Amino acid sequence: MEKKLKVGVLGATGMVGQRFISLLENHPWYEVVTMAASPRSAGKTYEEAVGDRWKMTTPMPEAVKKLTVMNVNEVEKVAASVDFVFSAVDMTKEEIKAIEEAYAKTETPVVSNNSAHRWTPDVPMVVPEINPEHFEVIKDQRKRLGTERGFIAVKPNCSIQSYAPVLTAWKEFEPYEVVATTYQAISGAGKTFKDWPEMEGNIIPYIGGEEEKSEQEPLRLWGKVENGEIVKANEPVITCQCIRVPVLNGHTAAVFVKFRKKPTKEELIERLVSFKGLPQELELPSAPKQFIQYLNEDNRPQVTMDVDFEHGMGVSIGRLREDTVYDYKFVGLSHNTVRGAAGGAVLCAELLTAQGYIQAKS
Ligand SMILES: NC(=O)c1ccc[n+]([C@@H]2O[C@H](COP(=O)([O-])OP(=O)(O)OC[C@H]3O[C@@H](n4cnc5c(N)ncnc54)[C@H](OP(=O)(O)O)[C@@H]3O)[C@@H](O)[C@H]2O)c1
Repeated sequence: MEKKLKVGVLGATGMVGQRFISLLENHPWYEVVTMAASPRSAGKTYEEAVGDRWKMTTPMPEAVKKLTVMNVNEVEKVAASVDFVFSAVDMTKEEIKAIEEAYAKTETPVVSNNSAHRWTPDVPMVVPEINPEHFEVIKDQRKRLGTERGFIAVKPNCSIQSYAPVLTAWKEFEPYEVVATTYQAISGAGKTFKDWPEMEGNIIPYIGGEEEKSEQEPLRLWGKVENGEIVKANEPVITCQCIRVPVLNGHTAAVFVKFRKKPTKEELIERLVSFKGLPQELELPSAPKQFIQYLNEDNRPQVTMDVDFEHGMGVSIGRLREDTVYDYKFVGLSHNTVRGAAGGAVLCAELLTAQGYIQAKS
């Protein structure tokens, strides 16, 4: 790319926003030029606005420290400074829907981490290795919004990244019934142990809204485009329990699966390790070389050893074995704020850029 695209991050001061800022440091195609957050932060330098809330293990990039944070609600002003935006604001669902549409209508593509538009029929919700063809609904969305280049694309919930890629790799064996339990990190709630000391040594068996997302969103990924809308798949049916555990980063899932065409364990492992998609073929900057790794050791995947596999963009699977009630069971692990949030959105943007949906405004 001759000239880097100018990027804005909405919600730049939050947990996911900070992850965007870290991942985009030295990005070969994108340069963060604008950061926006609530009116509380607007007008301050990024360093002042974040204060002691910096939650990344790497230092705040020098290039952004002195940038002045803008107000997310000043849509025209923010949009005028960028080619596209990443969205990670925490507002009500209705407010997020409205503000993301407002940005799209200024001809600014929005790649969002938020759940607000995940079920809007003409908004693609994409994991680039799984359903890149869903981007084709963007042309219908542009018609609805009355835009030429503005649109919204979203990525799915963090919880499903530890098992939806696996079930996709096994599609030919027709998985039809799945039971999953997720063990979710506290960064998924935008928290560290400093902010949430009650989580040390604790488990909370409730994460608001998460079970429905974990059961339904994979079906939308596997859905078809019909008349400019995404129609979700019916199978495999998934039932899920989501549990908050005392882990900083990394969502683990323990999963049971029934297949119509029961494969061997060797076949299942082969399909996992050979699974690739467009990001690998196009060698996109954030694409993991190996999307799914299979670990043979009985005590893997482990959060501390495996969460950063492929810089947090890969998925680690282990403990695949036959089950007495279901056909097979396994354990999956993925990084919730990298592959499950900011990294997944950056990879979506890279594919959208490679396919010409995102371009420089002038
Ligand atoms: N954490 C994850 O792993 C994860 C994964 C997937 C999706 N998400 C979703 O991503 C969004 C951000 O999550 P997070 O964990 O990063 O949250 P967070 O740490 O609480 O950050 C929220 C961001 O939104 C801004 N904000 C809050 N209220 C606002 C308002 N009324 N108007 C404008 N901006 C406002 C904040 O700005 P100030 O600093 O100025 O208050 C901050 O930049 C949420 O919708 C969350 O559900 C999170």
